[in-house]
Amino acid sequence: LSVLLLNGPNLNLLGQREPDVYGRETLQDVVARLEKVMEEWNGRLEHCQSNHEGVLIDAIHRAKGVHDGIIINPGAFTHYSYAIRDAISAVELPTIEVHISNVHARESFRHHSVIAPVVIGQIVGLGIDGYEWALRSLANKIGKK
Ligand code: DQA
Repeated sequence: LSVLLLNGPNLNLLGQREPDVYGRETLQDVVARLEKVMEEWNGRLEHCQSNHEGVLIDAIHRAKGVHDGIIINPGAFTHYSYAIRDAISAVELPTIEVHISNVHARESFRHHSVIAPVVIGQIVGLGIDGYEWALRSLANKIGKK
């Protein structure tokens, strides 16, 4: 099992950024947790965080033929990036969308995801646990561990 973990803008600041909303754990903690799960399965995890839309799109394109699936927290791009949505459609890799915070309990601009129609499903509001559930669910869907 090979999975691409993608984190969008401002998620490099996880742990310091609005800790009441996003918690105190860092992106490094997230990656370490998923790597631990992957170790059990002899799987491979590639992680990419970027504050730039095009870098995320390039990473999605490169995943084709390399990874079995994608876990993405697109950050604020969730709400308006048709380009990221099209990239996910283009590569046809099973993808799960993660949001650390409960976007539905926040500002109304966060209620809509332009990414949602092209992913298997979303995990929202469960903190960084959501990334691990996404990985476990993706592995079940792909049927490969
Ligand atoms: C987020 C929610 C987005 O609305 C926000 O712009 C983020 C993080 C989350 O993980 O809760 O950057 O995707």
